[in-house]
Amino acid sequence: MTKRIALVTGAMGGLGTAICKALAQSGLTVVANCLPNFAPKDEWLARMHAEGFDFPVAEGDVSDHEACEALVRKIEAEHGPVDVLVNNAGITRDSVFRKMHKAQWDDVIATNLDSLFNVTHPVLAGMADRGWGRVINISSVNGVKGQFGQANYSAAKAGVIGFTKSIAAEVAKKGVTVNAIAPGYIATDMVLAMKQEARDAIIATVPMGRLGRPEEIGALCAYLVSDLAGFMTGATLNINGGLHFS
Ligand code: CAA
Ligand code: NAP
Repeated sequence: MTKRIALVTGAMGGLGTAICKALAQSGLTVVANCLPNFAPKDEWLARMHAEGFDFPVAEGDVSDHEACEALVRKIEAEHGPVDVLVNNAGITRDSVFRKMHKAQWDDVIATNLDSLFNVTHPVLAGMADRGWGRVINISSVNGVKGQFGQANYSAAKAGVIGFTKSIAAEVAKKGVTVNAIAPGYIATDMVLAMKQEARDAIIATVPMGRLGRPEEIGALCAYLVSDLAGFMTGATLNINGGLHFS
């Protein structure tokens, strides 16, 4: 059987790296997306190679609609159709709402929400026609519960959940599952970029008293792309150390 092809966006960040590794260990060919001219790309590829992973790279800005169409067509030409998509790329531009600039709103909506249209649209029909596919959308605990200082991010991540449920309904009969993961605070650059006092204050509210590990999200992705996960769709999977129950 030919190996299934997975596309992971924002693959060279903290969660993306763990997701790429987990899917590769599950036997998939994993194509790693990053922004064009992503400076640490070669260092990342060398690190992955040293760990035994060789990921083909597909550069492209997920907030750019036309670039995503081109990105997917290039992957199809070079590797074959995309069977698994992990919409993982994301950014924060935190600010209390009254001080938030329009650019902070626009950048977060474009990267964290418009990207779902841009990357999913070119792959979903093909998955449905072939009768098998997996889409995983990375939301956030803050899309589920809201968060002080994150009106832009929480709006986008809540939108991810609505998108997930709607698309899941549309392709449920076609062998394609669409699920969202809502991680709590995970130890990646995104969280380490927060002011230490703000981060420490949040960790103090997590019943498990720690940040999550990227590998804990990777393992959930490995389950979701498996054949045994074929009955789960439209779900939002909370993985947050007890920070929020829903
Ligand atoms: N609830 C209520 N009030 C709060 C509050 C909270 N959670 N946090 C701060 N405040 C209060 C402060 O006590 C302060 O009050 P006073 O003016 O009376 O002193 C006021 O609000 C202003 O707070 P800051 O000094 O923090 O304001 P700031 O402008 O310096 O910083 C901020 C604003 C950058 C948004 C900062 O509050 C912050 O970093 N908050 C955390 C945001 C966050 O959780 N980001 C997550 C990033 S990682 C991620 O997003 C991954 C994921 O999906 C989980
Ligand atoms: P990260 O380490 O900052 O990784 C995000 C990656 O996405 C980076 O490599 C980033 O590149 C890339 N990216 C940003 N904009 C892009 C674009 N337009 N096109 C392509 N790639 C782009 O953050 P992370 O923690 O791994 O976050 C991954 C996902 O998980 C995000 O959607 C985030 O919102 C979500 N999430 C994270 C946490 C957490 O606690 N860490 C919790 C819940 C949800 P640059 O470095 O060049 O910007």
